[in-house]
Amino acid sequence: MASPAKIGIVTVSDRASAGVYADEGGPAILDYLAKALTSSWQAITRVIPDERDGIAQTLIELADKEGCCLIVTTGGTGPAPRDVTPEATEDVIDKLMPGFGELMRQVSLAKVPTAILSRQLAGIRGRSLIVNLPGRPRAIAECLDAVMPAIPYCIDLIEGPYLETDPAVIVAFRPGQKPKG
Ligand code: MTE
Repeated sequence: MASPAKIGIVTVSDRASAGVYADEGGPAILDYLAKALTSSWQAITRVIPDERDGIAQTLIELADKEGCCLIVTTGGTGPAPRDVTPEATEDVIDKLMPGFGELMRQVSLAKVPTAILSRQLAGIRGRSLIVNLPGRPRAIAECLDAVMPAIPYCIDLIEGPYLETDPAVIVAFRPGQKPKG
């Protein structure tokens, strides 16, 4: 049997990492993926402060050492001085995937006018897809519902594991393949 696909979940928050409040974003991503994915996977979670170098090092570790096919971050995408997750992501990616940020902001805007304040982006590092989400827990499903249908095929294209989804939650779109469900 194939080994489980590794997925990194990174909460970027000064206060959650210092224990000032509980991390809600990471568990929300974990719950979402647990419902959406039917193929075998394993989460590798991190809760780290809003430090550009530390975020970049964590992304490198999860991509290169752990071999995560997907790394989802939450937090640090806004305009505040300490918000540096997109910069740290840009520091480590080989390819920017602008469609992710464009689509997530577009769908989020239908929910909240401040969606334009998120600079969230996505990109490829080697065989890892890195996707930034805003820090608000409710933004997680709002954004993942929009981009998740394209993520399994994106991971196919970067030669990662074959991710399967529960079509009742997310229909994974693979060109040339009849969608399941
Ligand atoms: N996107 C969605 N879908 N839902 C939200 O509630 N909040 C916005 C925006 N994007 C939001 C959203 C707000 S208020 C901010 S400030 C930015 O994301 C940046 O959030 P972050 O710095 O916590 O990443």
